[in-house]
Amino acid sequence: MSKIIAVLPGDGIGPEIIAEAVKLLNTLNQSHGLDIQLEEGLIGGAAIDVTGKPLPDATLELVKKSDAVLLGAVGGTKWEPLPIAIRPEKGLLGLRSELGLFANLRPAILFPELANASTLKPEVVVGLDILIVRELTGGIYFGKPRGVRKLDNGERQGFNTLVYDTHEIERIARVGFESAMKRQRRLCSVDKANVLEATELWREIVIEISNDYPEVELTHMYVDNAAMQLVRFPKQFDVMVTNNMFGDILSDLASQLTGSIGMLPSASLDSNGKGMYEPIHGSAPDIAGRNIANPLATILSVAMLLRYSLKLPELADKVEHAVSKVLQDGLRTADIRQDGKTVVSTREMGDAIVAALN
Ligand code: IPM
Ligand code: MG
Repeated sequence: MSKIIAVLPGDGIGPEIIAEAVKLLNTLNQSHGLDIQLEEGLIGGAAIDVTGKPLPDATLELVKKSDAVLLGAVGGTKWEPLPIAIRPEKGLLGLRSELGLFANLRPAILFPELANASTLKPEVVVGLDILIVRELTGGIYFGKPRGVRKLDNGERQGFNTLVYDTHEIERIARVGFESAMKRQRRLCSVDKANVLEATELWREIVIEISNDYPEVELTHMYVDNAAMQLVRFPKQFDVMVTNNMFGDILSDLASQLTGSIGMLPSASLDSNGKGMYEPIHGSAPDIAGRNIANPLATILSVAMLLRYSLKLPELADKVEHAVSKVLQDGLRTADIRQDGKTVVSTREMGDAIVAALN
């Protein structure tokens, strides 16, 4: 029976980059033995415009019956005046939470061809291969109480809660250790245990879980230091595991080491390997509709989908090789432009990937 992939283009550049990923999936479907069915759904601002909700019931039904989800991006200036509770971003957070996608894998890998595209010196980033494991359904993003309240003195007060239960820390720590076991067996847990109790518990639990993984070398780092170390000497890291908000921030930082945020894919997994796949960049409203966005992060997210949810590692390799090949051939979207290389549009990049598959 063919597998169902829910495709949620979303907002801004989302539809453009997803179109290239769909082109790729259709090609794999026709000529590379993939057997999938794509079903499109509404999410984010696009969903608000049609249904009034960032995560419509029909989309929730679709993703629940699907084997995997491919998402573009959500958000844009148009919906910024809306209250936080019904903004496009809530659609994405709702999906993560409803599907129990607690483990977010964000690989920051430098393609050697892009060594000069990074703002850091080539010797700092050549050979870079970091995996950030971000907790995705807990922490301050979801903690209650939250809101803005009126104080007795008439002032307003904004508040959010950073909260982690032991089982939430345990399961993401395990993903960190398991990931490290498949790589260089080094895990750095990032916290702020010197200030925040919730992350002091985080550290304690990670140490407990480390007893089950004696072959993994575990280190701990405060998040401020981790940010500094990521630009000072990023190659010291193999796998980093951290909470929802720190992971959000550090993965944007790490993306820049690879040349462009337009290069970073991600997988968000539940405990059974069901997953949602999306580029880590946002909807980039400033360049939306201009056919200049980089579709490679989305295409690399398709590779992760093939690897993690469809268990088709050979096809995943094929897609990743196609990305390497196209970069070797000198094609670049505007965000990774380099002297002497050819700047191509979103669609041209997608076409080149499809051509490079064979
Ligand atoms: C990300 C994004 C999201 C997040 C936004 C769009 C809600 O920045 O996936 O990193 O903060 O998690
Ligand atoms: Mg982010």
